[in-house]
Amino acid sequence: MKQALIFTSDPAKALDEALAAEENRHPGSLFILTDENSARCCLPLLKESRAAADAKIITIGAGDSNKNIRSLEEVWTTLTGGGATRGSVMVNLGGGMVTDLGGFAAATFKRGIRFINIPTTLLSAVDAAVGGKTGINFCGLKNEIGSFREAETVIISAAFYSTLPYGELLSGYGEVLKHALIDSPEAVAEALKINLQEVCLTQLEGILQRSVRVKQRIVAEDPFEHGIRRALNLGHTAAHAFEALAMERRRPLAHGIAVAHGLVTDLVMSHLRLGFPSDTLHQVASFVRDNYPAPEFTCKEYGALTDFMRHDKKNRSADAINFTLLSAPGEIKIDCLATDTEISAALDITRDLLGC
Ligand code: GLY
Repeated sequence: MKQALIFTSDPAKALDEALAAEENRHPGSLFILTDENSARCCLPLLKESRAAADAKIITIGAGDSNKNIRSLEEVWTTLTGGGATRGSVMVNLGGGMVTDLGGFAAATFKRGIRFINIPTTLLSAVDAAVGGKTGINFCGLKNEIGSFREAETVIISAAFYSTLPYGELLSGYGEVLKHALIDSPEAVAEALKINLQEVCLTQLEGILQRSVRVKQRIVAEDPFEHGIRRALNLGHTAAHAFEALAMERRRPLAHGIAVAHGLVTDLVMSHLRLGFPSDTLHQVASFVRDNYPAPEFTCKEYGALTDFMRHDKKNRSADAINFTLLSAPGEIKIDCLATDTEISAALDITRDLLGC
C-alpha cells in the first residue's frame, strides 16, 4: 500500500480526515506520542481535532538520547495499560526521534498497529517521517534496532516549520538539497533560489512537496534498501564522518548541516570521477558556503575522517569506502568505491570551496 502524503495548512483537520475512513475505530483507541518540546509547541495545533480530543497522550523526553529502549518500554507500557488493541492507531507528533521510536513501537506492538506521522521539523518532514525506517539507538549505536514499516499517512504542515529556529531550518534544508540533486537539474535550480534568511512560506511549501515526493518515489522502487534506495545516501558517507568527528570533540553538528557539507564533498568526487558538471558543483558549494557554518576540520583530521567512513555501518568493504555519486543531477551511481587518496583530494577541494 502506498503511503498517503497530506500537505496541509491545517493539521487538525487533516488528522480528522485521515481517521474518518476508520469506521470501526472506537473512542479511546487513539494514542498520540510526542516529546516534551513538541507537546508544548506543536500539540496545541491539534486542539481543534475531534479525534485528538479523546486520544491518550504519551509524552517522552526530548532529544536523541531518549531514543532508547527505556522510552520504548514506556510507550509499550502505556499502550498496554491504556487498553490498546490491534485496531488502535498511534499518531507520532514530533521530529525524527519521535517518528522513528513511535513507528517502531507501533510496528512491534501486538505485531503491528497502524500509525500516522505528523513531523514537526523540516528535517523529519523531508526524511525520517517518510519511507518506513523506524527504530531506536542501542548500546551506543544509532538506529541499531529497528524495522521497515511505513506510516499509513504522513501529514506535513508548514504551520510547524514557520517558527523553526534558523539552525533547524538549515539542517532540514540539507536533505532538501540532497533530494533536489538526486532528482533533476530543474529541482536543483529551484532549491537554490530560496532565501534562507527570509523564507517565503509558499515557496518553501512548494519545494518541500517536491522534495518529499522524490524520497517517496525512490522508496517505492526499493523499500528495503537493496539497491536504488542507497541514492538517499548521497552526501551521507562524508556527513556521518563529520558528525562523528564533531561528536568526538563534544561539539555536536546538526545532521542536515553535516549533510550540506557532505554533499559538497560528494559532488567534488562526482566531478573528478564521473564528470559531474562543474558549474552546478560551484552553485551548490556557493549556496552552502553563503548559508551554512563552515566545516571545522583541517588536513590533520583526514585520517580520522576516512576511518569514520570506513567503519560506517553502511560501508560494505574493509578496503575501500562506499559512496553514492552523480554524473549529473538526477543521474545516480550507487556503490562507487573510493580510496583514501581520492577522499583526501575531495576533502581538500571541499575546504577550498567552503572557505575553511
Ligand atoms: N534516510 C535515508 C532513507 O530513508 O533511506
